[in-house]
Amino acid sequence: MALPDRYTRLAMVFHWTIAALIIANVIGIWTIDYFPENAQRPLINLHKSIGLTVLGLAVMRILWRVTHAPPPAPAGQHGWERTLAHLAHFALYAVIIGLPLTGYMHDSAFKGAAEHPLTWFGLFEVPRIGWIQAIGQPDKEGLHKLFFSWHAAFATVFYGLFALHVIGALKHQWLDRQRELQRMWS
Ligand code: HEM
Repeated sequence: MALPDRYTRLAMVFHWTIAALIIANVIGIWTIDYFPENAQRPLINLHKSIGLTVLGLAVMRILWRVTHAPPPAPAGQHGWERTLAHLAHFALYAVIIGLPLTGYMHDSAFKGAAEHPLTWFGLFEVPRIGWIQAIGQPDKEGLHKLFFSWHAAFATVFYGLFALHVIGALKHQWLDRQRELQRMWS
């Protein structure tokens, strides 16, 4: 039986929800300095809640991916394009886990953790990572900075992969005239 030429509805929901939440989080953190000071702590809390949601959805998305074959690449794609797309997709999976996970690690090493509980949109408390929280000062302060540098590095890698992913998809859609976007839309 021939494989369908598009992703399933569930895969599309995962794809676009994760994409929208990551973009919202990047825009939110980039623009945070334009907000009044008393709005910044709630905005960082929102950033954390959105990020934790991405982490949960990314785990589910990867479980979906390892249990379901994706549709075959559109006919006419060169071997090098398929290889590049596979590499970019693999790296994107690593980033959608690594980016929120390092944010969570950074936050778990926050010295003000006790006064600022981590919650999911204020609905319930999310435990910090125990072994990180248990580390004493001043090591924890060093880890706080180290994990933040990892978080920022994952964000930088994400910008590059995101650009590659979008340029690749639009090239197939418009230059090669393949039904690329329809595979992940409607
Ligand atoms: C969708 C997932 C996420 C994205 C795209 C994201 C992106 C970013 C970016 C781009 C920055 C700024 C980095 C820089 O200044 O170079 C940042 C900062 C930060 N992130 Fe995330 N992040 C995510 C998830 C998380 C999670 C899950 C947490 C914690 C639970 C978190 C906690 C933080 C904190 C505390 C900061 C520093 C905010 C500040 O003090 O200005 N992030 N994040």
